[in-house]
Amino acid sequence: MATSQIGLIGLGTMGAALASNIAEKGFPIAVWNRTTQVTRDFHAASGDLADRITPTETLKAFVDAIAEPRAIILMVPAGKPVDDQITALRPLLGANDLIIDAGNANFHDTNRRSAEAGDLPFMGIGVSGGEEGARHGPAIMGGGKRAHWDRVAPVLEAISAKHNGEPCAAWMGEEGAGHFVKAVHNGIEYADMQMIAEVYQIMRDGMGQNSETIASVFDWWNDGVLQSYLIEISGKVAAAKDAETGKPLLDVIVDAAGQKGTGRWTVIEAQQLAAPIPCIEAAVVARNLSSRRDERAVGQDLFGAAPTTMGDTAPSEAELEHALICGKILCYAQGFTMIAAASREFGWDLDLPTIARTWRQGCIIRSRMLDDMATALAESDDRNLMFAPFFTNLIKNSHDALRQVVAKATLHGIAVPALASGLAYFDAMRTARGSADMIQGQRDFFGLHGFERFDGRTGQHGPWAAT
Ligand code: 6PG
Repeated sequence: MATSQIGLIGLGTMGAALASNIAEKGFPIAVWNRTTQVTRDFHAASGDLADRITPTETLKAFVDAIAEPRAIILMVPAGKPVDDQITALRPLLGANDLIIDAGNANFHDTNRRSAEAGDLPFMGIGVSGGEEGARHGPAIMGGGKRAHWDRVAPVLEAISAKHNGEPCAAWMGEEGAGHFVKAVHNGIEYADMQMIAEVYQIMRDGMGQNSETIASVFDWWNDGVLQSYLIEISGKVAAAKDAETGKPLLDVIVDAAGQKGTGRWTVIEAQQLAAPIPCIEAAVVARNLSSRRDERAVGQDLFGAAPTTMGDTAPSEAELEHALICGKILCYAQGFTMIAAASREFGWDLDLPTIARTWRQGCIIRSRMLDDMATALAESDDRNLMFAPFFTNLIKNSHDALRQVVAKATLHGIAVPALASGLAYFDAMRTARGSADMIQGQRDFFGLHGFERFDGRTGQHGPWAAT
């Protein structure tokens, strides 16, 4: 009997959490997993929600359990598993049945899958918030045809996080727009995390602070302008103790960051779009570098580590806080300008205020500042966030601290690539006359590429052209 309003394939951590969330919000759901035992275990552990969940053991039984026109969420690993699942599913579906890929797909794959689907309904949606978000309210970035979004919006809005009662789930644009916005979200996530980690290292190595102190500083910052999920959990990570040794947890975690690839995709795409996102690029580079532990150890033996304490030259905690405020604004400004560039390039007509509103709750980069960003972008979405009066004021009050922190850390020998990239972006963006006249001169010298003069004439050459 087709009693389920929606179906979900893939009961891994995220899929199981999302299915439970859907059931909890009152929507009967059919579930299927490649390994049947996983489906059985999930259902057995569903408690009060079990009545609304129909576990199925074959794809056919799964499809039959869903009322037409069907909506089926795929929560399988990104890449080939998604294509394989679509191939297995399509022959069992009707022409009006909708497949929704809710994994972390590369948006180019989503574009391709949308094209391959032709008239058959297909959507790619970005879901953020980790397991906790998926279970109790993620942020959802929808992509595909608007009509298809509208069909499932009641479910997706109901399960999403809410900001003052407003759902953090919205349609972004056609094709892979939802997954594109999710990728930029993750790029910003990388940069935000990296800047926090850089400040942590200054406190730990330069200022000799222990993890308890660092945790309390993060907690204190979380009551102010920096209030955000990432600052909150950084405080919790710093405060945590290793159950086995009793040591601070951070002292037993290997300093090599993992990555599934979304940050890298963002950087690659930014290069294609010629969109400057240096904080995000620096964060991806820092992750890559972090995994070269052996080489770093050789480097330390050869050149010596930075001195252990900064003494009188250490930045104050207020300076660190303001450096993070400034770096954060600059990094988000870069992310939003990249989204604007993609919107123009792909003809998606992405609505920047809607994106900022969708990120206010549920997702990993949720923060108080995003509310102000949504407001600033609603006033004018075609200017860099740096130039929105609210953020201009914040930057005016914090860029000197960013400079102090970058300078002090750099002189001391602590690498702060994301903060330094933010500072360089700021300096470049407030310099009306830059240095590219020299680049143009060089290009013309060795390749006669031509340059534009300040008097407006283009295709001009230097004196070397005559020789
Ligand atoms: C989210 C996160 C999530 C991401 C993981 C791991 O928004 O919920 O961005 O989607 O996949 O946090 O990402 P990395 O392995 O690349 O760090």
